Amino acid sequence: MHILHVVGARPNFMKAAPVLRALAARGTSQTLVHTGQHYDVSMSDVFFQQLGMPESDFNLAVGSGSHAKQTAEIMVRLEPTVLETKPDLVLVYGDVNSTMAAALVCSKLLVRVGHVEAGLRSFDRTMPEEINRMVTDRLADLLFTPSEDGDRNLKNEGVAPKKIHLVGNVMIDSLVHLLPEAMKVPRNGLPERYALVTLHRPSNVDDSESLKSILASLLEASERMTVIFPVHPRTRQRIADFGINAEKLRLIEPAPYIEFLALQRGAAVVITDSGGIQEETTYLGVPCLTLRSNTERPATVTMGTNVLVGQDRAKLRSELTKICDGHAKTGAIPPLWDGHAADRIADVLLRL
Ligand code: UD1
Repeated sequence: MHILHVVGARPNFMKAAPVLRALAARGTSQTLVHTGQHYDVSMSDVFFQQLGMPESDFNLAVGSGSHAKQTAEIMVRLEPTVLETKPDLVLVYGDVNSTMAAALVCSKLLVRVGHVEAGLRSFDRTMPEEINRMVTDRLADLLFTPSEDGDRNLKNEGVAPKKIHLVGNVMIDSLVHLLPEAMKVPRNGLPERYALVTLHRPSNVDDSESLKSILASLLEASERMTVIFPVHPRTRQRIADFGINAEKLRLIEPAPYIEFLALQRGAAVVITDSGGIQEETTYLGVPCLTLRSNTERPATVTMGTNVLVGQDRAKLRSELTKICDGHAKTGAIPPLWDGHAADRIADVLLRL
Protein backbone atom coordinates (compact mmCIF):
# COMPACT_ATOMS: atom_id res chain seq x y z
CA MET A 1 0.00 0.00 0.00
CA HIS A 2 1.40 3.39 -1.04
CA ILE A 3 -0.18 6.44 0.57
CA LEU A 4 0.23 10.02 -0.62
CA HIS A 5 -0.54 12.83 1.82
CA VAL A 6 -1.44 16.32 0.68
CA VAL A 7 -0.88 19.24 3.07
CA GLY A 8 -0.76 22.94 2.34
CA ALA A 9 -1.72 25.26 5.14
CA ARG A 10 -0.80 25.66 8.78
CA PRO A 11 -3.74 23.74 10.28
CA ASN A 12 -2.96 20.71 8.09
CA PHE A 13 0.46 20.07 9.55
CA MET A 14 -0.51 19.05 13.10
CA LYS A 15 -3.20 16.77 11.64
CA ALA A 16 -0.92 15.00 9.16
CA ALA A 17 2.12 14.60 11.45
CA PRO A 18 0.63 11.86 13.69
CA VAL A 19 -0.80 9.97 10.70
CA LEU A 20 2.58 10.02 8.93
CA ARG A 21 4.19 8.71 12.12
CA ALA A 22 1.60 5.98 12.69
CA LEU A 23 1.92 4.73 9.12
CA ALA A 24 5.74 4.90 9.20
CA ALA A 25 5.69 2.75 12.33
CA ARG A 26 3.73 0.15 10.36
CA GLY A 27 6.22 0.24 7.46
CA THR A 28 3.83 1.83 4.94
CA SER A 29 5.31 3.47 1.87
CA GLN A 30 4.40 7.18 1.88
CA THR A 31 4.78 10.32 -0.21
CA LEU A 32 4.28 13.80 1.21
CA VAL A 33 3.13 16.67 -1.01
CA HIS A 34 3.13 20.28 0.23
CA THR A 35 1.02 22.47 -2.02
CA GLY A 36 2.76 25.64 -0.82
CA GLN A 37 -0.54 27.34 0.13
CA HIS A 38 1.33 28.54 3.21
CA TYR A 39 4.97 29.35 2.54
CA ASP A 40 6.29 31.67 5.26
CA VAL A 41 8.78 29.99 7.60
CA SER A 42 6.55 30.94 10.54
CA MET A 43 3.45 29.42 8.90
CA SER A 44 5.04 26.26 7.53
CA ASP A 45 8.71 25.20 7.98
CA VAL A 46 8.76 25.68 11.73
CA PHE A 47 5.73 23.37 12.06
CA PHE A 48 7.41 20.66 9.99
CA GLN A 49 10.45 20.83 12.28
CA GLN A 50 8.62 20.90 15.59
CA LEU A 51 6.12 18.22 14.62
CA GLY A 52 8.94 15.94 13.43
CA MET A 53 7.54 15.70 9.91
CA PRO A 54 9.72 14.42 7.09
CA GLU A 55 10.61 16.99 4.44
CA SER A 56 8.00 17.04 1.69
CA ASP A 57 8.81 14.95 -1.38
CA PHE A 58 7.14 17.55 -3.61
CA ASN A 59 6.51 21.24 -3.00
CA LEU A 60 4.06 22.67 -5.52
CA ALA A 61 4.80 26.28 -4.44
CA VAL A 62 1.36 27.58 -5.38
CA GLY A 63 1.43 30.53 -2.97
CA SER A 64 -1.45 32.93 -2.35
CA GLY A 65 -4.23 34.07 -4.63
CA SER A 66 -7.99 34.27 -4.92
CA HIS A 67 -9.84 31.09 -4.01
CA ALA A 68 -10.38 30.15 -7.64
CA LYS A 69 -6.79 30.87 -8.60
CA GLN A 70 -5.27 29.09 -5.62
CA THR A 71 -7.55 26.05 -5.97
CA ALA A 72 -7.00 25.80 -9.72
CA GLU A 73 -3.24 26.19 -9.36
CA ILE A 74 -3.10 23.38 -6.81
CA MET A 75 -5.14 21.14 -9.10
CA VAL A 76 -2.99 21.81 -12.15
CA ARG A 77 0.26 21.22 -10.26
CA LEU A 78 -0.89 18.20 -8.25
CA GLU A 79 -2.24 16.14 -11.14
CA PRO A 80 1.15 15.18 -12.67
CA THR A 81 2.53 14.35 -9.21
CA VAL A 82 -0.29 11.90 -8.57
CA LEU A 83 0.13 10.39 -12.03
CA GLU A 84 3.88 10.03 -11.46
CA THR A 85 3.75 8.57 -7.93
CA LYS A 86 0.70 6.30 -8.49
CA PRO A 87 -0.55 6.13 -4.90
CA ASP A 88 -3.14 3.56 -3.85
CA LEU A 89 -4.81 6.16 -1.69
CA VAL A 90 -4.50 9.89 -1.02
CA LEU A 91 -5.10 11.39 2.40
CA VAL A 92 -6.33 14.97 2.70
CA TYR A 93 -6.78 16.90 5.94
CA GLY A 94 -9.22 19.44 7.32
CA ASP A 95 -10.94 22.09 5.26
CA VAL A 96 -8.44 24.33 3.50
CA ASN A 97 -8.29 25.00 -0.23
CA SER A 98 -5.49 22.44 -0.64
CA THR A 99 -7.79 19.76 0.82
CA MET A 100 -10.62 20.30 -1.62
CA ALA A 101 -8.35 20.79 -4.64
CA ALA A 102 -6.57 17.49 -3.93
CA ALA A 103 -9.83 15.61 -3.43
CA LEU A 104 -11.09 16.84 -6.81
CA VAL A 105 -7.90 15.90 -8.66
CA CYS A 106 -7.61 12.44 -7.13
CA SER A 107 -11.23 11.43 -7.46
CA LYS A 108 -11.10 12.28 -11.18
CA LEU A 109 -7.94 10.20 -11.53
CA LEU A 110 -9.85 7.34 -9.84
CA VAL A 111 -7.45 7.34 -6.90
CA ARG A 112 -9.18 6.63 -3.59
CA VAL A 113 -9.41 9.60 -1.24
CA GLY A 114 -9.44 9.49 2.55
CA HIS A 115 -10.57 12.64 4.37
CA VAL A 116 -9.18 13.15 7.84
CA GLU A 117 -11.45 15.39 9.95
CA ALA A 118 -14.54 14.59 7.90
CA GLY A 119 -18.15 15.44 8.69
CA LEU A 120 -17.68 18.82 10.35
CA ARG A 121 -20.35 21.36 9.40
CA SER A 122 -20.90 24.95 10.45
CA PHE A 123 -23.98 25.08 8.15
CA ASP A 124 -22.65 28.48 7.11
CA ARG A 125 -21.88 28.57 3.41
CA THR A 126 -20.37 32.04 3.65
CA MET A 127 -17.29 30.31 5.11
CA PRO A 128 -14.95 29.12 2.36
CA GLU A 129 -14.02 26.19 4.60
CA GLU A 130 -17.64 24.97 4.67
CA ILE A 131 -17.61 24.64 0.88
CA ASN A 132 -14.29 22.81 1.09
CA ARG A 133 -15.70 20.41 3.71
CA MET A 134 -18.85 19.65 1.74
CA VAL A 135 -17.09 19.00 -1.55
CA THR A 136 -14.30 16.94 0.01
CA ASP A 137 -16.72 14.75 1.98
CA ARG A 138 -18.89 14.24 -1.10
CA LEU A 139 -15.90 12.92 -3.04
CA ALA A 140 -14.05 10.97 -0.35
CA ASP A 141 -14.11 7.17 -0.24
CA LEU A 142 -13.09 7.00 3.40
CA LEU A 143 -14.29 9.54 5.94
CA PHE A 144 -12.43 9.73 9.24
CA THR A 145 -14.51 11.68 11.75
CA PRO A 146 -13.31 13.29 14.99
CA SER A 147 -16.62 13.12 16.87
CA GLU A 148 -20.13 11.70 16.62
CA ASP A 149 -21.64 14.91 15.28
CA GLY A 150 -19.50 14.32 12.18
CA ASP A 151 -21.02 10.88 11.67
CA ARG A 152 -24.53 12.31 12.07
CA ASN A 153 -23.90 15.07 9.54
CA LEU A 154 -22.54 12.64 6.97
CA LYS A 155 -25.40 10.17 7.41
CA ASN A 156 -27.89 13.04 7.08
CA GLU A 157 -26.24 13.88 3.75
CA GLY A 158 -26.66 10.29 2.57
CA VAL A 159 -23.07 9.10 2.94
CA ALA A 160 -22.96 5.29 3.19
CA PRO A 161 -22.23 4.36 6.84
CA LYS A 162 -19.55 1.86 5.75
CA LYS A 163 -17.40 4.72 4.46
CA ILE A 164 -17.45 6.50 7.84
CA HIS A 165 -14.90 5.75 10.54
CA LEU A 166 -15.15 7.48 13.90
CA VAL A 167 -11.48 7.66 14.89
CA GLY A 168 -11.25 10.73 17.14
CA ASN A 169 -9.29 13.93 16.84
CA VAL A 170 -5.86 13.81 15.17
CA MET A 171 -5.11 17.39 16.18
CA ILE A 172 -5.24 16.25 19.79
CA ASP A 173 -2.71 13.52 18.93
CA SER A 174 -0.16 16.24 18.16
CA LEU A 175 -1.10 18.14 21.28
CA VAL A 176 -0.66 15.10 23.51
CA HIS A 177 2.62 14.27 21.79
CA LEU A 178 4.17 17.72 22.24
CA LEU A 179 2.59 18.94 25.48
CA PRO A 180 5.63 17.77 27.49
CA GLU A 181 7.83 20.01 25.26
CA ALA A 182 5.40 22.91 25.69
CA MET A 183 5.66 22.53 29.45
CA LYS A 184 9.40 23.20 29.21
CA VAL A 185 8.98 26.57 27.45
CA PRO A 186 10.09 29.32 29.89
CA ARG A 187 7.43 31.89 30.83
CA ASN A 188 9.86 34.68 29.94
CA GLY A 189 8.22 37.90 31.02
CA LEU A 190 4.67 36.63 30.60
CA PRO A 191 2.26 38.21 33.07
CA GLU A 192 0.49 35.98 35.61
CA ARG A 193 -2.81 36.50 33.86
CA TYR A 194 -3.21 37.15 30.14
CA ALA A 195 -5.63 36.69 27.28
CA LEU A 196 -4.32 35.01 24.13
CA VAL A 197 -5.88 36.13 20.85
CA THR A 198 -5.88 34.78 17.30
CA LEU A 199 -7.87 36.23 14.46
CA HIS A 200 -7.83 35.50 10.73
CA ARG A 201 -11.30 34.58 9.40
CA PRO A 202 -12.17 36.64 6.31
CA SER A 203 -15.56 37.48 7.87
CA ASN A 204 -13.79 39.08 10.85
CA VAL A 205 -10.71 40.65 9.30
CA ASP A 206 -11.53 41.54 5.69
CA ASP A 207 -14.22 44.06 6.57
CA SER A 208 -12.84 47.23 8.13
CA GLU A 209 -15.86 47.81 10.38
CA SER A 210 -15.80 44.32 11.89
CA LEU A 211 -12.03 44.32 12.33
CA LYS A 212 -12.18 47.76 13.99
CA SER A 213 -14.99 46.64 16.27
CA ILE A 214 -13.18 43.44 17.32
CA LEU A 215 -9.94 45.30 17.98
CA ALA A 216 -11.86 47.89 20.02
CA SER A 217 -13.26 45.03 22.16
CA LEU A 218 -9.77 43.63 22.58
CA LEU A 219 -8.48 47.05 23.62
CA GLU A 220 -11.24 47.14 26.21
CA ALA A 221 -10.21 43.65 27.39
CA SER A 222 -6.59 44.83 27.62
CA GLU A 223 -7.63 47.15 30.45
CA ARG A 224 -8.34 44.04 32.53
CA MET A 225 -5.44 41.84 31.48
CA THR A 226 -2.56 41.80 29.02
CA VAL A 227 -3.69 40.75 25.56
CA ILE A 228 -1.11 38.70 23.64
CA PHE A 229 -1.89 38.52 19.95
CA PRO A 230 0.22 36.44 17.54
CA VAL A 231 -0.90 38.00 14.27
CA HIS A 232 -1.66 35.96 11.14
CA PRO A 233 -0.09 37.58 8.03
CA ARG A 234 -3.53 38.16 6.52
CA THR A 235 -4.66 40.04 9.65
CA ARG A 236 -1.45 42.09 9.88
CA GLN A 237 -1.98 43.15 6.29
CA ARG A 238 -5.58 44.21 6.98
CA ILE A 239 -4.63 46.16 10.13
CA ALA A 240 -2.14 48.08 7.97
CA ASP A 241 -4.59 48.48 5.03
CA PHE A 242 -7.29 49.92 7.26
CA GLY A 243 -4.82 52.15 9.16
CA ILE A 244 -5.87 50.76 12.55
CA ASN A 245 -3.79 51.59 15.61
CA ALA A 246 -3.44 48.40 17.68
CA GLU A 247 -0.36 49.44 19.64
CA LYS A 248 -1.87 48.76 23.05
CA LEU A 249 -2.19 45.06 22.25
CA ARG A 250 0.93 42.91 22.43
CA LEU A 251 1.18 42.03 18.73
CA ILE A 252 3.72 39.29 18.09
CA GLU A 253 4.69 37.16 15.10
CA PRO A 254 2.73 33.91 14.49
CA ALA A 255 4.03 31.53 17.15
CA PRO A 256 5.57 28.12 16.40
CA TYR A 257 3.50 25.09 17.45
CA ILE A 258 5.18 24.32 20.77
CA GLU A 259 5.40 27.95 21.88
CA PHE A 260 1.76 28.48 20.95
CA LEU A 261 0.71 25.41 22.95
CA ALA A 262 2.61 26.85 25.92
CA LEU A 263 0.85 30.19 25.46
CA GLN A 264 -2.56 28.47 25.34
CA ARG A 265 -1.86 26.37 28.38
CA GLY A 266 -0.88 29.40 30.47
CA ALA A 267 -3.68 31.70 29.32
CA ALA A 268 -6.55 32.83 31.54
CA VAL A 269 -8.66 32.89 28.39
CA VAL A 270 -8.19 32.35 24.68
CA ILE A 271 -10.14 34.59 22.31
CA THR A 272 -10.14 33.23 18.77
CA ASP A 273 -11.91 32.62 15.48
CA SER A 274 -9.85 29.52 14.67
CA GLY A 275 -11.36 26.05 14.44
CA GLY A 276 -8.54 24.00 15.88
CA ILE A 277 -7.92 26.30 18.83
CA GLN A 278 -11.49 25.70 20.02
CA GLU A 279 -10.52 22.03 20.25
CA GLU A 280 -7.12 22.53 21.83
CA THR A 281 -8.51 24.77 24.59
CA THR A 282 -11.24 22.20 25.29
CA TYR A 283 -8.57 19.55 25.72
CA LEU A 284 -6.45 21.84 27.93
CA GLY A 285 -9.47 22.98 29.98
CA VAL A 286 -8.71 26.63 29.19
CA PRO A 287 -11.73 28.93 28.69
CA CYS A 288 -12.23 29.85 25.03
CA LEU A 289 -14.35 32.71 23.68
CA THR A 290 -14.95 32.21 19.97
CA LEU A 291 -15.51 35.27 17.79
CA ARG A 292 -17.96 33.46 15.53
CA SER A 293 -21.69 32.89 15.72
CA ASN A 294 -21.44 29.23 14.74
CA THR A 295 -18.98 26.38 15.00
CA GLU A 296 -18.37 23.20 13.05
CA ARG A 297 -16.98 21.76 16.28
CA PRO A 298 -20.07 21.66 18.54
CA ALA A 299 -18.55 19.24 21.07
CA THR A 300 -16.30 22.10 22.21
CA VAL A 301 -19.43 23.99 23.26
CA THR A 302 -21.64 21.15 24.52
CA MET A 303 -18.84 19.37 26.37
CA GLY A 304 -15.84 21.66 26.41
CA THR A 305 -14.83 25.14 27.54
CA ASN A 306 -15.90 27.00 24.40
CA VAL A 307 -18.45 29.84 24.35
CA LEU A 308 -19.56 31.42 21.07
CA VAL A 309 -19.62 35.20 21.40
CA GLY A 310 -19.85 36.15 17.70
CA GLN A 311 -19.25 39.86 17.27
CA ASP A 312 -21.35 40.73 20.31
CA ARG A 313 -19.19 43.11 22.36
CA ALA A 314 -21.51 43.00 25.36
CA LYS A 315 -21.31 39.21 25.43
CA LEU A 316 -17.52 39.25 25.14
CA ARG A 317 -17.40 41.72 28.02
CA SER A 318 -19.74 39.70 30.25
CA GLU A 319 -17.94 36.42 29.51
CA LEU A 320 -14.60 38.07 30.33
CA THR A 321 -16.06 39.33 33.59
CA LYS A 322 -17.12 35.80 34.52
CA ILE A 323 -13.59 34.55 33.82
CA CYS A 324 -11.98 37.40 35.81
CA ASP A 325 -14.36 36.62 38.70
CA GLY A 326 -13.32 32.97 38.71
CA HIS A 327 -16.53 31.64 37.13
CA ALA A 328 -15.07 30.43 33.84
CA LYS A 329 -16.84 27.61 32.00
CA THR A 330 -15.40 24.22 32.82
CA GLY A 331 -15.73 21.18 30.60
CA ALA A 332 -14.82 17.61 29.74
CA ILE A 333 -12.72 16.10 26.95
CA PRO A 334 -14.84 14.52 24.19
CA PRO A 335 -14.51 10.75 23.65
CA LEU A 336 -11.60 9.57 21.48
CA TRP A 337 -9.70 12.86 21.84
CA ASP A 338 -7.02 10.76 23.48
CA GLY A 339 -3.84 10.96 21.42
CA HIS A 340 -4.50 7.74 19.45
CA ALA A 341 -6.68 8.85 16.53
CA ALA A 342 -3.86 8.40 14.01
CA ASP A 343 -3.30 4.81 15.15
CA ARG A 344 -6.97 4.11 14.52
CA ILE A 345 -6.70 5.67 11.04
CA ALA A 346 -3.62 3.59 10.24
CA ASP A 347 -5.39 0.43 11.40
CA VAL A 348 -8.37 1.13 9.12
CA LEU A 349 -6.06 1.82 6.16
CA LEU A 350 -4.03 -1.32 6.63
CA ARG A 351 -7.19 -3.44 6.73
CA LEU A 352 -8.19 -2.23 3.23
C1 UD1 B 1 -6.17 29.34 5.39
C2 UD1 B 1 -7.42 28.45 5.39
C3 UD1 B 1 -8.12 28.55 6.74
C4 UD1 B 1 -7.16 28.26 7.87
C5 UD1 B 1 -5.99 29.22 7.75
C6 UD1 B 1 -4.96 29.04 8.84
C7 UD1 B 1 -8.53 28.24 3.24
C8 UD1 B 1 -9.74 28.60 2.47
N1 UD1 B 1 -8.36 28.88 4.39
O1 UD1 B 1 -6.59 30.68 5.52
O2 UD1 B 1 -9.16 27.60 6.77
O3 UD1 B 1 -7.82 28.44 9.08
O4 UD1 B 1 -5.35 28.98 6.49
O5 UD1 B 1 -3.95 29.99 8.69
O6 UD1 B 1 -7.79 27.39 2.81
N2 UD1 B 1 0.02 34.61 3.76
C9 UD1 B 1 1.31 34.92 4.05
N3 UD1 B 1 2.17 33.88 4.28
C10 UD1 B 1 1.80 32.59 4.22
C11 UD1 B 1 0.47 32.29 3.91
C12 UD1 B 1 -0.42 33.31 3.69
O7 UD1 B 1 1.71 36.07 4.11
O8 UD1 B 1 2.64 31.70 4.45
C13 UD1 B 1 -0.93 35.73 3.56
C14 UD1 B 1 -1.12 36.12 2.12
O9 UD1 B 1 -1.29 37.49 2.08
C15 UD1 B 1 -2.41 35.44 1.75
C16 UD1 B 1 -3.18 35.47 3.06
O10 UD1 B 1 -2.19 35.34 4.07
O11 UD1 B 1 -3.06 36.08 0.71
C17 UD1 B 1 -4.21 34.40 3.20
O12 UD1 B 1 -3.65 33.12 3.00
P1 UD1 B 1 -4.58 31.93 2.47
O13 UD1 B 1 -3.81 30.68 2.36
O14 UD1 B 1 -5.35 32.37 1.26
O15 UD1 B 1 -5.68 31.78 3.59
P2 UD1 B 1 -5.61 31.88 5.17
O16 UD1 B 1 -6.30 33.11 5.59
O17 UD1 B 1 -4.24 31.61 5.71
